[in-house]
Amino acid sequence: LGRRDLAGRKVLVTAGPTREPIDPVRFISNPSSGKMGYAVAAVAARRGADVTLVSGPTALADPADVETVRVETAEEMARAVEAFAGAMDLFVGAAAVSDYRPRTAAARKIKKGEGEETLVLARTPDILAGLGARFAGKPGAPVLVGFAAETEEVIARAREKLKGKRCDLVVANKVGAPGAGFGGDTNRVALVSAAELAEIEGPKDRVAEAILDWILPVLDARRPRA
Ligand code: C5P
Repeated sequence: LGRRDLAGRKVLVTAGPTREPIDPVRFISNPSSGKMGYAVAAVAARRGADVTLVSGPTALADPADVETVRVETAEEMARAVEAFAGAMDLFVGAAAVSDYRPRTAAARKIKKGEGEETLVLARTPDILAGLGARFAGKPGAPVLVGFAAETEEVIARAREKLKGKRCDLVVANKVGAPGAGFGGDTNRVALVSAAELAEIEGPKDRVAEAILDWILPVLDARRPRA
């Protein structure tokens, strides 16, 4: 039996992609497998936390001892997060939330024609930024952790996200780098906070442990146990 250093902590994790419908048989999505977020949820539960996982469509089984809520769209994910956000100590936004959705989803399958088609896209709510705007800087605010998948200028963009979304930590990874990112069982990430920069490499559950190790003292300082 390992450490139970998150005992009693309420942790909310998002994971996986979202699907934004074009019509009943087509959608916009991305290749997120959900593995990194599921690893964070599973490890947090193993360390004693009371974990809720809001997951987009993935091929993964619900992690043991985790309350898993399945959603499809960014809007559904935002609503599910909203339902839990009031009670959480820690939010880890590992989901690859689609930034855009088709402005309207056609009720019937769109028939193909010969020429080009135009799809008008609308922005989806930024779940993490919404939580940052609501909680950051307030006494006893939950700890907010975001992810950043980038193809270039990874650290600089992670720092921008840290400020722009007002979170405590951004876990940044370089998409396309060997041993990192979408789909694989290993990851290579940089933990970027206002004061620190640390690199971690290894299986996704090791990376999840390291993320939670970073969070623990921040959580204990921000929300001391009764
Ligand atoms: O801006 P970008 O999508 O690169 O930011 C990634 C981080 O923001 C991730 O933590 C992701 O879960 C979160 N995010 C979100 N809602 C969105 C877009 C991103 O919570 N609509």
